[in-house]
Amino acid sequence: MEIKKIQDGEFAGKKVLVRADFNVAIVDGKIQERFKLEACKETVEFLASQAGTKIALASHLGRPDGKENFDFSLTQLIGELEKILGKKIVFAENCIGKDVAEFLESLKPEEILLLENVRFHAGEESNEEEFSKSLAENFEVYVNDAFSVCHRDQASVTGVTKFLPSYGGFWLQKEIENLDKVLKSPEFPATAIIGGAKIETKLPLIKLFESIYTNILVGGKIANEAIDQSLQFSSKVILPLDFAQDRLDIGEKTVQLFKEIIAQSKVIVWNGPLGKFEQPPFDSSTREILAAVVDSGAYTLIGGGESVQVLEENNLMDKVSFVSTGGGAMLEYLSGNAMPGLEALSLEKS
Ligand code: 3PG
Repeated sequence: MEIKKIQDGEFAGKKVLVRADFNVAIVDGKIQERFKLEACKETVEFLASQAGTKIALASHLGRPDGKENFDFSLTQLIGELEKILGKKIVFAENCIGKDVAEFLESLKPEEILLLENVRFHAGEESNEEEFSKSLAENFEVYVNDAFSVCHRDQASVTGVTKFLPSYGGFWLQKEIENLDKVLKSPEFPATAIIGGAKIETKLPLIKLFESIYTNILVGGKIANEAIDQSLQFSSKVILPLDFAQDRLDIGEKTVQLFKEIIAQSKVIVWNGPLGKFEQPPFDSSTREILAAVVDSGAYTLIGGGESVQVLEENNLMDKVSFVSTGGGAMLEYLSGNAMPGLEALSLEKS
């Protein structure tokens, strides 16, 4: 599916609503997954370089259940965003209403408007038409640069596109290009590493890679579930040979086997941790396999919070060919499931 791209839009002199994904974890006041904040930089710079544009950034943070809750306020991101974007952030305490209009009116060229969490309104997640209209009414054009929320049919992702000319930003395009590359034209041997929980959500992905890839290495809770449910796969799908204590991580023999396969691979795609990552020492296989992936020399595409956390902690982000901001969205896209946020940008709709 072809989408409308930011390169094809007209933005000079316009008020532009940019949907970013700033849904990051904040631990003891420290922002994790900083790269998610960086993802919209190229789009913001492109828009800011056009005469007279006024840019507002919209995002959700966490799941505040349609109510105002300071724990989920985007104010927490202002300092980091100013550093990343090199612009002064003006903050609007609501994402809709006449205050937003007034802020936009007086916004200076070196400033960006940041709107408060869209999920403080129940109409965001329920994709209420009235809320979408209110979100759109202060703007003339919309850019979606949040690939990682495109699996959600929500007001700031799909609803607003009914009211504004809409385009996909640069980061969103990059996600699609890189995911398509590993899906449609991988070099062989190609290896998928799939971990995490909920076998029912990961099974379509395992089946898909089973039909196109050389090896599918399965770890995490889904490996236990697959074994317990006696699921049958072809010999391409490699379930753990052994486990650590209480099956909370894959065992040493499995780690060795996975490392040998990784070393021979030309393409590696990874989604989901291989053990109970949040509870050391059951993070050890994920860390060890990640080091092997980084050293493999293969084209590597990784997504999902835990793997990204290890990459960030060890300054390895630029050692991976592409780090996807999408956990759930990456899974849905690769599995071939509907992506409402991308469908809303489809060229066929215009
Ligand atoms: C993500 O972090 O994967 C996206 O921002 C989607 O968040 P959600 O699962 O709360 O919709």
